[in-house]
Amino acid sequence: MNDPRPIGIFDSGVGGTSIWKEIHQLLPNEKTIYLSDSKNAPYGIKTQEEIIRLSIKNTEKLLEMNSKIIVVACNTATTNAIKVLRSTYKVPFIGIEPAIKPAALKSNNKAIGILATRGTLTSELFTQTSEIYARDINVIEVEGNGLVELIESGKRGSEEAEDLLKKLLKPMLEAEIDYLVLGCSHYPYLIPLLKKILPKNVEIIDSGEAVAKQTKAILQQNGLLNTGEGKTEKPEFFSNIDPEVLSNIIEAKNHGYKVTRLDF
Ligand code: DGL
Repeated sequence: MNDPRPIGIFDSGVGGTSIWKEIHQLLPNEKTIYLSDSKNAPYGIKTQEEIIRLSIKNTEKLLEMNSKIIVVACNTATTNAIKVLRSTYKVPFIGIEPAIKPAALKSNNKAIGILATRGTLTSELFTQTSEIYARDINVIEVEGNGLVELIESGKRGSEEAEDLLKKLLKPMLEAEIDYLVLGCSHYPYLIPLLKKILPKNVEIIDSGEAVAKQTKAILQQNGLLNTGEGKTEKPEFFSNIDPEVLSNIIEAKNHGYKVTRLDF
């Protein structure tokens, strides 16, 4: 069976493109559609009710565009809304959650840091996972307040971002973490700064690659793969504000990607 319909991906803004990249790399002959809900970013400080409402809005748009599967490329939306999405719609949903399990299993110091939004850290799903996998570990949870706003305004490599990160990471460094879990899809764009600030022995983990692998597995299991061999599909990107930051972050000009402003 060959299913040429697109994979729909959404995030509260440009950050989920870190997940999109992994999916596009693993499944180049799948058509991908990316929705950046930058107008409503950040989700991380909103109520669960509001996060669910926005996730439904994004899902409806992606379904209108004929998506065969939906990737919620946002930890905050996954941990707060994926249950509702799965029980409301028939298409399969792939979510992203902070990778606490591998970090907890590998940590020699028995101390790991989780940088995520308030919405993710206070969610039931995150609390449960943390209780299961990190019970004997010192978990330093830090809300990355302000980071999404800096990335959304194109300041991911700025001095302001570096200063804020230094402040946020302080309790983690004091606890001598050896793993830092990036619990927000925006944060992989801060890796160059993080590497500058963190000691060499601290490993940074995010869930992008795992999400791409899971997407492939679920497409396979449901007979939804696009088997058209050898053809690389051009992705399409949509933003509900001026798409300049989105275009920059994916280097749209270099790759010839189409980025469109769309109200949704
Ligand atoms: N990129 C998102 C996440 O993974 C949400 C950030 C936000 O909008 O607060 O959590």
